[in-house]
Amino acid sequence: MKPNDMQPDDLYYDPYDYAIDADPHPVWRRMRDEAPLYYNREYDFYALSRYRDVYDASLDHQTFSSAHGTVLELMSRKHDFSTMMIWLDPPDHTQLRKLVGRTLTVRRVAELEPRIRSLCAEYLDPFVGSAGFDYVEEFAARLPVMVIGSLLGVPVEDQETVRGWTDQSLHVEPGETQSNKGALEAWGHLRGYFQEQIDQRRRDPRDDLMSDLVASELELEDGSTRRLTDDELHGFVNLLSSAGNETVARLLGWTALLLSEHPEQREQLAADAALIPGAVEELLRYEAPSPIQARYVTRDVELHGQIVPEGSKIALLNGSAGRDEREFTDADRFDITRPIDSHVSFGYGLHFCIGASLARMEARLAIEETLARFPRWEASREKIEMVHTSTVRGPSSVPILL
Ligand code: HEM
Repeated sequence: MKPNDMQPDDLYYDPYDYAIDADPHPVWRRMRDEAPLYYNREYDFYALSRYRDVYDASLDHQTFSSAHGTVLELMSRKHDFSTMMIWLDPPDHTQLRKLVGRTLTVRRVAELEPRIRSLCAEYLDPFVGSAGFDYVEEFAARLPVMVIGSLLGVPVEDQETVRGWTDQSLHVEPGETQSNKGALEAWGHLRGYFQEQIDQRRRDPRDDLMSDLVASELELEDGSTRRLTDDELHGFVNLLSSAGNETVARLLGWTALLLSEHPEQREQLAADAALIPGAVEELLRYEAPSPIQARYVTRDVELHGQIVPEGSKIALLNGSAGRDEREFTDADRFDITRPIDSHVSFGYGLHFCIGASLARMEARLAIEETLARFPRWEASREKIEMVHTSTVRGPSSVPILL
């Protein structure tokens, strides 16, 4: 029997189809109900869409490996093709995770609060009294890049330049799939800039995350230790930037849209800031900014009565898991007061998002600072633009009318 013989012929999901990606929820619902183990023949991957399946698979890293990559189209049959911890299994992952855990401390995250508030003021104040602005382009996309810069210890006077290079490095022209010349040049600038920063911290350590990373000792399996190489340090800078920028920008983009669509809930938040942390969890559940984590299947495994062969690619759809009626009552209803015990929008298990507390704080402060200046705005689904990647989903543009 072929892998997709058991699923309805008219059920089709792929993350590259713009029309599906605009609103995948009806397709994900059908997958949960009719094909909880889905197979896409065109791109040759399986998908799990129910909360419990995504949760269980995220915990079973022996069967569902990250070491072949976790982005569907970038996965390789080769094992350990990257030094970034998000694409490693234990024991390599364990060592790096421990090291980052020691540097990305509660204190370091908490210390960013005043900087985040002042960035919010810098970006939002110019629009007070105006007719409106693009919430993502002018604010949500800018804030996280500056925050990661501050976290790493990039001097404030350089942060805007680094943000410019970061934007340029990720820019893909319409119709292109590869980085263009401008993007490659920007990568070059970033590499040169961070090399200087690394060298400075080797000579003269400071109280910042980059100095901690430079000084950290990696504990090896044989009990010996070693410092990180330059390539590993650059890998960390890239990982923190790529994992921390696009995701937060999308979360804030969804926030602008969903709070405009639910003005009574926005009013509740404006009246009672204590509701904001719960609203952030609901936003994450309702529209997961990073809705697909791919894994490589390391052994034949039976799922929903079918064998998924070793060597297969499988997508864990945490974006769908957040809408699973088996887990969340009335799951398609957006409700900032919903009690949420747990969700999988930050992943689960070994690779649980290491920036989750920073992301939560950024979102909370961004919402507080937005509501303090703009208690009401209007945004419409027809006017937003979406980013198109297989890993991050959400608006790249949300024009708001004040
Ligand atoms: C709303 C914002 C965010 C969302 C939705 C999000 C989502 C996720 C998810 C789903 C994973 C798990 C990946 C997997 O299982 O393969 C993850 C891992 C990760 N995230 Fe986040 N993230 C966010 C913000 C951040 C921030 C601000 C940072 C940086 C400080 C960050 C750094 C990381 C890193 C380094 C990993 C890899 C952890 C590991 O492999 O052990 N993320 N994130």
